[in-house]
Amino acid sequence: MYTSKEIKNICCIGAGYVGGPTMAVLADKCPFLNIYVVDLNQEKIKQWNSKDTSELPIFEPGLEQIIKRVRGKNLFFSINVDKYISIADMVFLSVNTPTKTKGVGSGQASDLRWIEACARQVAKSAKGHTIVVEKSTIPVKTAETIKIILKSTEDSDDSNLKSFSILSNPEFLAEGTAINDLENPDRILIGGEDEESMNHLSKIYEQWVAPTKIIKTNLWSSELSKLIANAFLAQRVSSINSISALCEKTGADVNQVSSAIGADSRIGSKFLMAGPGFGGSCFKKDILNLVYLCNYFGLPEVANYWKNVITINDWQQKRLSEIIVEKLFGNLTDKKIVILGFSFKAKTNDTRESPSIYISRYLLEEGAHLIINDPKVNQKQVDNDLKDDQFFVPTLNNKNSFGTWEFSNNLEAAFEKADAAVILTDWPEYKKINWKILFKKMRKPAWLFDTRSIVEEKVIKDIGINLWKLGSNC
Ligand code: NAD
Ligand code: UGA
Repeated sequence: MYTSKEIKNICCIGAGYVGGPTMAVLADKCPFLNIYVVDLNQEKIKQWNSKDTSELPIFEPGLEQIIKRVRGKNLFFSINVDKYISIADMVFLSVNTPTKTKGVGSGQASDLRWIEACARQVAKSAKGHTIVVEKSTIPVKTAETIKIILKSTEDSDDSNLKSFSILSNPEFLAEGTAINDLENPDRILIGGEDEESMNHLSKIYEQWVAPTKIIKTNLWSSELSKLIANAFLAQRVSSINSISALCEKTGADVNQVSSAIGADSRIGSKFLMAGPGFGGSCFKKDILNLVYLCNYFGLPEVANYWKNVITINDWQQKRLSEIIVEKLFGNLTDKKIVILGFSFKAKTNDTRESPSIYISRYLLEEGAHLIINDPKVNQKQVDNDLKDDQFFVPTLNNKNSFGTWEFSNNLEAAFEKADAAVILTDWPEYKKINWKILFKKMRKPAWLFDTRSIVEEKVIKDIGINLWKLGSNC
């Protein structure tokens, strides 16, 4: 068993959707390591430390059990960033890298201010030799910036006590399956220049991952591979979503087409589910970043090729919204529509870039009254998401030409006199809905829009609900 003397204390900066679960699994698999997850967000750290583990800041199946096992033993959450950097042999940078909203590259390039702040903090507080690991998704060549910041400290007067090496170790977990993805990864990618540091990180993963699954590359291949993996996954979703529209026109069924093409082992069956468009914090931002990089390096044709993945995604959401309006006689004013699902996919409470946000806003602009339901997202989150500087949503008491919305955990009450329901997230709970009971409560003619292929066409039609199913002609 590896019990490296060199690596004993690990600090992870960023206690978010990646930092939290990743370090929990690391602590569980490597009891000989002390792992300190630090974040500037006090409220988040308080939630990670909450005695009641149902109050953890993120919902992820299996996470709670691991936290119960390791928290306080070899996994610690703290706001004391400098302290834990100073004792760490290895520091993971796991902070957010969203799209820039102003300045050069606005709307496309990654905003690296949090990465840079971390690099400066590590430069200031680290002692001795520290291995710095990029866990966040970042543009290719970011390690160069981090190196320059760290090197400037090495070279400064009090430098004789500090040295650094930099590794890229992107994370491939998907939300909702994060624990399984971390425990059984397809591969671990380690990019770097310093073989010894790469081996240290590799040995840690080898506690539970077969060495054949650990891929070592140079820094730039590792950084770029993460962006490209997300771009290829998102491209598959946009490809099948584009075909869903063609299926609706021709009488083909997109699920049958997915099965037929996915049976070809060269294509493969995963990531071929048509839906309301991909959401999540990463696909869009990572492709935008790829587009920016391609243009930056003078490759506009490559940039335009990838940009279309986003164009189709935006179009799919607009297209679905328009179909709903059209089926409801072109008028949503005073119509009650139940939104089933607000998270961007099932088994997570994350709503970042959720198609539900865009589609809800569109329906509200048409004057609808929405009843929003989600098993794990709360009302406060929905409120934050529907608020927007450019978009005004009045409360129930302040009704004007825009629509209104309310949150409901009670499906039976939600369907009272509803004109339509729209399934937007593939929560297993929605597969168990008794439509016969709910249909009785709806105003007729009642519509069900299924964008996730959750319901059985025959069951719904037999009950008497008008069904529109994505990617089919019903
Ligand atoms: P997140 O927003 O959930 O978490 C980031 C955390 O970093 C926040 O809690 C923030 O307060 C903290 N932070 C920012 N600057 C800090 C600083 N200077 N010191 C201390 N804490 C600081 O983000 P996330 O979803 O965990 O994503 C993190 C990175 O991982 C991104 O680059 C993302 O692209 C990548 N990634 C995300 C996923 C995912 O499923 N969410 C998967 C793979 C990779
Ligand atoms: C994705 C990648 O799958 C991860 O490997 C990556 O680490 C992560 O992004 C990241 O870098 O953040 P995630 O966004 O959590 O993970 O979830 P996915 O399962 O990839 O789903 C993304 C979106 O695509 C969801 O809205 C989902 O509903 C949609 N999707 C996915 C489809 O519409 N059809 C599919 O067949 C698959």
